[in-house]
Amino acid sequence: MKDIKKRILYPRDLIARRVEEIAKEISGDYREKEVLVICVLKGAFIFLADLARCLTIPYTVDFVRLASYGSGSTSSGKIAITKDTETSIEGKDVIVVEDIVDTGLTLAYLKERLLERKPNSLKLCTLIDKKHRREIAIEADYVGFTMDDGFIVGYGLDYDEKFRCLPDIYVIEE
Ligand code: IMP
Ligand code: MG
Repeated sequence: MKDIKKRILYPRDLIARRVEEIAKEISGDYREKEVLVICVLKGAFIFLADLARCLTIPYTVDFVRLASYGSGSTSSGKIAITKDTETSIEGKDVIVVEDIVDTGLTLAYLKERLLERKPNSLKLCTLIDKKHRREIAIEADYVGFTMDDGFIVGYGLDYDEKFRCLPDIYVIEE
C-alpha cells in the first residue's frame, strides 16, 4: 500500500481540553432534564466516550449508524439508517453526537427522522464542523472545532477504515 502522508492538526491534549469545555456547556444547559445521548457510529465513538465521561448530568446513551449511497467520500444521494436506536426517544431531551458535519446531508436526514419521533428537544453536537462545505442549511448547537478544507483521520475518524484509533487528529496531505 502506498504510504499516506499526514500531519497532526488537532493534538490529543487540545482535543481533551475542548471536549471538557463542551461537556461543561452541555452539563450547564441540561440540568434537571432526562437526557438521551445518541452517538452516530462509527466515527463518533471515541468522541462520545470522552465526552460522556466529562458530563456531570444524568443521561443514557444509544447508537445509530447511517449509510450514504453516492459518490466516493462525500455523502451525496440516498441516506439511510442502517442501525437504529433501541430506546424510545419520545418526550426525551436528545443530543446527537456526530464526528463531522460536512455537506450536512447526513445530519439533516437524521435530524428529520428523529424529530418525527417527537423528542422533547433535539440538539446536535459535532466534534468537527466543515462549515463552508454545507449543501443544506443545518447548524450544530455544540461544535468542537471548525475547519476549512482537508480530509482528517484519527480519534475515531477513518480513511477507508484506517487510522480510527490514532489518539490525535491528522490531516491527510496527499
Ligand atoms: P455529510 O453528510 O457530508 O455532512 O457527511 C458527514 C460524514 O462524512 C461524517 O460523519 C464522516 O463520517 C464523513 N466525513 C466527512 N469528512 C470527513 C473527514 O475529513 N474525515 C473522515 N470522515 C469524514
Ligand atoms: Mg459520521
